Amino acid sequence: MNVGILISGRGSNMTALADAVAEGRVPGARIRLVVSDKPQAAGLEAARARGIEAAVVERRGRTREEHERELIGVLRARSVELVCLAGYMRLLSPCFVGEFRGRVLNIHPSLLPAFPGLDAQRQAVEHGVRVSGCTVHFVDETLDGGPIVIQRAVPVLDSDTPDALAARILFEEHRAYPEALALVCSGDYRVEGRRVVRSSRQ
Ligand code: GAR
Repeated sequence: MNVGILISGRGSNMTALADAVAEGRVPGARIRLVVSDKPQAAGLEAARARGIEAAVVERRGRTREEHERELIGVLRARSVELVCLAGYMRLLSPCFVGEFRGRVLNIHPSLLPAFPGLDAQRQAVEHGVRVSGCTVHFVDETLDGGPIVIQRAVPVLDSDTPDALAARILFEEHRAYPEALALVCSGDYRVEGRRVVRSSRQ
């Protein structure tokens, strides 16, 4: 499975995926390309340091669809079959989702459907939940709403700030995303409505 990873910043989930693939923990996956919409994204250098091609596709005042057309072209030119969003902070339009239907994964720092959108860790602290975590899900046309592949939970402590909670969640993100990618690359699942069901072989 040829994988492309979209980032906008630090890229720690991207490096967690790249390292898991390099260590043989994601059988069948090959990371072909990392793309950022931001030229200053630190993850670009981290990708190159791992020998992975890293490209920038900026929005540059174009419409969302024009930007995504270029993005799709760059991914298709590398025969990318599966797209992993890893801190990609731009909403994808139905055009992109339709092009890679059922083939786009995202990681979100909350237990969806709680706290979609921006600043999920702050939302969790301010709401007063006692448990939060991370979710890897397929991307559809809804905001953080597609079928859930894997979730990992963490406690929320009385002393937590959004940053402290984010660090605890990030640790679990780096475990959850490679696990989810391995499942999707294995093909040992089916999507039934909203549910991702593992096949009986697992
Ligand atoms: C991660 O916590 C990821 O879950 C979150 O941004 C961070 C990116 O960190 N994504 C979202 O909030 C998407 N709505 P990273 O660049 O180090 O992977």
